[in-house]
Parts: sequence; structure tokens; C-alpha cells
Amino acid sequence: MPLDELQQATTAAVDADWWRQAAVYQIYPRSFADTNADGLGDLPGITSRVDYLKSLHIDAVWLSPFYPSALADGGYDVDDYRNVDPRLGTLDDFDAMTQALHAAGIRVIVDIVPNHSSDRHEWFRAALSSEKGSEERNRYIFRDGLGEHGELPPTDWESIFGGPAWEPVGDGQWYLHLFAKEQPDFNWSNDEVRQDFLKTLRFWSDRGVDGFRVDVAHALAKNIGYENYPSKEELAAMPWDGTHPIWDRDEVHDIYAQWREVFNEYDPPRTAVAEAWTDADRRPAYARASGLGQAFNFDLLQADFDAAAFKKIITFNLAQAAAAGSSTTWVYSNHDVVRHATRYGLPAVGDPDAAKKWLLHGADAEQLDAALGLRRAHAATLMELALPGSAYLYQGEELGLPEVTGIPDAQRQDPAFFRNKGVEVGRDGCRVPLPWSTSGPSFGFGESHAHLPQPAGFGQYSVAAQDGQDGSTLELYRKALKLRRELQDEESLRWLPSEPGVLAFSRPGGWVCITNFSAEPQPLPAGELLLTSAELTAEHTLPAATTAWLRA
Ligand code: GLC
Ligand code: CA
Repeated sequence: MPLDELQQATTAAVDADWWRQAAVYQIYPRSFADTNADGLGDLPGITSRVDYLKSLHIDAVWLSPFYPSALADGGYDVDDYRNVDPRLGTLDDFDAMTQALHAAGIRVIVDIVPNHSSDRHEWFRAALSSEKGSEERNRYIFRDGLGEHGELPPTDWESIFGGPAWEPVGDGQWYLHLFAKEQPDFNWSNDEVRQDFLKTLRFWSDRGVDGFRVDVAHALAKNIGYENYPSKEELAAMPWDGTHPIWDRDEVHDIYAQWREVFNEYDPPRTAVAEAWTDADRRPAYARASGLGQAFNFDLLQADFDAAAFKKIITFNLAQAAAAGSSTTWVYSNHDVVRHATRYGLPAVGDPDAAKKWLLHGADAEQLDAALGLRRAHAATLMELALPGSAYLYQGEELGLPEVTGIPDAQRQDPAFFRNKGVEVGRDGCRVPLPWSTSGPSFGFGESHAHLPQPAGFGQYSVAAQDGQDGSTLELYRKALKLRRELQDEESLRWLPSEPGVLAFSRPGGWVCITNFSAEPQPLPAGELLLTSAELTAEHTLPAATTAWLRA
């Protein structure tokens, strides 16, 4: 093979694997940057901040939905899968953004929401105006109601956001919605639905999108029959072993095998990562190369700040992903959970559900140790960025943003709050628009208000306040991500002996990471110090809740 061909072949091979150890930054577009003063972040806002994204040394951005939507669920209620919400921009704006990101060496991953559309999708509107038993209704999951006139729901099932999972349409039929009632579930047994999503995958891939994040990937295939439905209790008692009527059925993988064929039509192949909150041992099927290729594990996100818990999770997930031919995924924060800088400062630190309940029942200032939370978040993140596999970061965590508490009920948006009143505080607190400057009407988010209220004092977390400031969260992320790129080698890790409460491992090339999870200072091994998550105060000592990177 001539040299230039060989070089090309090598680049292509490296390229095809770009996702395996990528640092992926999640953008929640409506809360990132607003360029036209309507209070909503937009695509030109992302384009205008490409230099900032580049300064983070990330490999890719993942955009939460930016499609036309009534925002019944923050955009996860999609009206039209092949367009841009006019409030966020146009397809041309999308292309300009993609081009600018690519020019900066940043790949683009978009969110795809296949389990349900919005109730404003043209197919759902057609279903409503069509007869029972029609082709139009067969794209969704319509069933006859019980009772003489179908006035009762087919089952007593509850939606994930609370309240009933069925909505009547007035003629004795009801449709299934696992989430809000504005999110009718598609019927994936219908080939028209399958073909339409293949079209959507090609539509965005043709526009240069590099990969997809697949929303609720484990719910598409369903088998719920037309009568003798299980009760809510029976459904809850059924195992998730591939035969559950709704969750994680084996047939779901036939869908992803078809998607994989489409992904592989492209060079490099398009990537995908499954959001499947399923049993750990069921993840490899999503992550294998003949399927989506990668799957989120949310294990660290649900763990306490505890060395033994972290070690177990890391060991398990590295082995599991490797066995599936994939690489694993580390996540502490996203648009669905209480931000980790706050979680780690709460008494019930690990479990995000416990954290949400705690926030609901009045944030008792004495119980939240914000400084400890941030310190632990720094330590945890520095460790995450040394691990083999992909790191998924959520906008604002690089600023150390805390969860915003105390949003007035009238200004909340999350359906989980409204459908579940008094039980769930909802997810608005992690979706508050980013502070870019220390002052101004929305701290530099835009020229006017922010669609979710920012607390007073948000400016202290702003990009402007941290830019170039030694010891700031932002500079820690920048340094760590830059170094990670230089140090990252093979996907392997070797645990080193350590004290209880401490985790230490080495990566190929002599890169050592050591984290002190305990509340006491611990010995710091010898080696060239590369970076620490907090200042060291004594020689050869690693303070409490601190991570250090060394070269052995
Ligand atoms: C996923 C999304 C979440 C959304 C839900 C329904 O879990 O991350 O934000 O509400 O799916 O689409
Ligand atoms: Ca805007």
C-alpha cells in the first residue's frame, strides 16, 4: 500500500474509534446561550460559544433535543424529528453550528427520542382524527377502554412522571403514554414507524452529525396485548429478563441491529449511546458493536462518595464493557438528576432520588454542606477523567454549579413536578440557564430574562468570574481535559495498593490517579505531581476529598 493510502487508512481507523474514550459535553440548548433575547437558549447561541467549548478540550458535544416542541417535557416531546424548533433557529443555523464545531475539532451528537413523539406530531394528530382500528392509530398504542362505553382506562398503570399512563380520546379508546400525556408512545411493531426513524437517522447523519444519544432506549419494544392486561402490581413484579411486557424486551435489539446498518453506511460509522436505565447485566446487548455500540452506566451517579463503592462499580463496568467490545461511560450529572456538586454535600449523598426528596422537603441549610459538595465533586471528576472509557459531562458542572433550589412553583416547568405534586421536586433545578458573566439581566445568558429563574449570586459561578482564575472549577476542568488528551492511551487500568478510603490506579504510560475519599489526610505516593483537585497543604500528603494525578 502506498504511504499516503496507508496513512489515510490509519486515520480512518483511529477516527472510527473516536468515541471510545471521548469527553462528551452535554448541552441543554434552551439553557446554554440566548442570542435573540427571548429568554430561551438557541442554536446560534451555541455557535457563538464555540471558542469557549474549544477551550474546554472536549471531544464532542451532545445536544439535548432542539426539535420543534411545545416543551411539555423540556423538548423530549418532539413535534417533528427532522427540523429545528423555530424558537431555537433553523436548519441553516444547525448546519452553521455543526460546521463551526467541526472546524474546532468537536464532534456533534444529537438526542433521538424514539419511544414517543409529542401529541402535536402530525402522525398523532392524524391518529386522533382517524377511526379506531385505522392505520393512523396503529402508529401509536391505542386500546379500548373498559366499562360499557370505554370510559375506564384499559389498565391502572401509572406513568413515570406520576398519574395515569393512559389518556382517553373521547370515542372509548385510550392511548398509552409512559411519560407525560403529551408524549404518546409509538407502536414499534409497525414497520412504518421503523422506516421513519431510519429516515431520521439518515437525515441528521447526512447533515454531518457524528452520533446519537438514544432516549429511553429500553422501552421501544412492547407486548401488551388487547385484553387480560396485568395490573399495576403484577407489572411491577415481572422480572426484566427480556420478556417484560414493556421494559427491556429482547426484540428491542432487532430495532438497533437495523439502526446499526444505517450507522455503518457512513464513514466513519455514526456512533450511538443508549440511555437504558435497566439491570446492569442487560447493558451489553445495547453496547455491542452490532447494536448501538455504547450504553450509559449510571452507577457512579447513584453511588455514595465512597472508595469501596466506586472501586466495585469501576471494576465491574470496565470488564463488562470490554466483554461487549465497547467502552464504558461515566456520568455524574445530566439534565435529569440533582447536580453532583450538591448531591455530594447532602447527608443522603449518593442516591439522586433521595436527593430530590431532600430538596422537596425544604433545603435545610444546615444539612447541606455546599463547600464539601464542591470539593468532593472536584475530586470525583478528576478521578473520572483519568478512567478508561468515555466521560459524559453536563453543561455547568465545569463551573461547579449547584442545584438551584427554591424555584417558585409558578415558574417550574418539569412535568415530573406537576404530575407528581408533593412527591417529586422535578428536574428544573439542574436546567437553569448558564451564568456567563458576573452581572446583567441573565448573567450573560442573554440580553433579557432566563426562562428558568437564576438565583441571586449566580454570577459568582459565571465563566467570567472563573476564567483564568487559578483554583477555579473551570480552570480545573480545562487543565484536566487537556492533560487527559495527552495522557490517554490504551483502555486499561491497574489498581494500585492503597489505604482504606483511598483509591489509586495507574494507566499505561505511568499515569497514576489517587483519590482520597476519606475525611482524613492520607499519604501521597512519590512521583511527579501533574494536577490536584484541591491545594496540597503538607508534603507527601493527600488531603481529605482530594484527587491527584502523578507520573510514576
Ligand atoms: C429520558 C430523558 C428525560 C425525559 C424522558 C422522556 O429519560 O433523559 O429528560 O424526560 O427520557 O423522554
Ligand atoms: Ca433565544
